[in-house]
Amino acid sequence: MKLIGLCGSLREDSYNQRLLEAARQLIEARGATFGQGNIGALPHYNSDLETDELPEAVETLKQLLQDADALLIVSPEYNYSVPGPLKNAIDWLSRPAYRSVLAKLPTGILSASMSPIGGARMQGHLKNILAGTLTPVAPLPEFVLATAQNAFDEASALTSERARKALETYVGNFLAWASVD
Ligand code: FNR
Repeated sequence: MKLIGLCGSLREDSYNQRLLEAARQLIEARGATFGQGNIGALPHYNSDLETDELPEAVETLKQLLQDADALLIVSPEYNYSVPGPLKNAIDWLSRPAYRSVLAKLPTGILSASMSPIGGARMQGHLKNILAGTLTPVAPLPEFVLATAQNAFDEASALTSERARKALETYVGNFLAWASVD
């Protein structure tokens, strides 16, 4: 099984990127492959750029998802919603409407935030957006990493025992759901 991860934060020391790495380890330990798409390299969505020759970064990302069996989105919450770069990536990936690489692609969502709410409001908005792309989202209890600044050690490993256990449960349930879907 081949998974692609997208991180909604472009920040070098991103907690969400660290969470994605923790998920990658659990996923690979279960025998699936995991690659990451680069949303930071995409231009702003502009339908004028949607010619036969797409911008290279768009083409690369679309191909990654075309070849994937499942998608894992790991993202912070910005102003109660989805960060702009992630929304931009979804807009690029969502074309052609209803027949895009996102349509029918089993998808999981994780979020990390310094707040006690852990990005839960972003998850609600993201689910709504993914309804518009006909992307099935795993019907699982949400995984949020709250107060993320306390969850990692200096080497960026996820050391919160509670969070590790919850992530393991989410990843196991997500892979089981995505592989039968
Ligand atoms: C934030 N942050 C934030 N956190 C949150 O829980 N809810 C929110 O609405 C927002 N809004 C917000 C807007 C903007 C523009 C920024 C830059 C930040 C804080 C955010 O959770 C925190 O910076 C995380 O560390 C961002 O995730 P990464 O970059 O560490 O993955």
